Amino acid sequence: MPAGRQVADGDPARGHVLVRSYGCQTCHAIPGVAGVKGVVGPPLDRFARRAMIAGLVPNEPAVLLRWLENPPQISPRTAMPDMGVSRADARDIAAYLYSLE
Ligand code: HEC
Repeated sequence: MPAGRQVADGDPARGHVLVRSYGCQTCHAIPGVAGVKGVVGPPLDRFARRAMIAGLVPNEPAVLLRWLENPPQISPRTAMPDMGVSRADARDIAAYLYSLE
């Protein structure tokens, strides 16, 4: 995992399950999540290596948690909706996304 891409208390295995239950794959191609491979959003493979989130803000844990909880708060015109992700779920999802190198 690249330096600085660590989420305290995040459980990547649970995050993987959560991504599917929130339905993130309807908009994103996500490694290991079968079924629809959405093309509305960018593919999330190698996300741990990406420098920016949505090309706007630095890809670091605190910012990623805020993005997952409420993307329009960071980028009012983004097509990614507020999915109602809780802080605890965002931690696990972020830990999972940072396992994608
Ligand atoms: C309705 C479609 C849609 C859904 C559902 C959705 N996203 Fe997104 N997502 C997007 C779009 C579009 C972007 C690109 C944002 C932008 O450029 O404004 C994005 C961007 C992202 C990014 C930043 C990617 C990057 O490389 O910059 C992450 C991480 C992400 N989404 C994770 C998730 C997760 C996790 C879920 C499920 C909780 C989810 N998304 C659900 C549409 C969606």
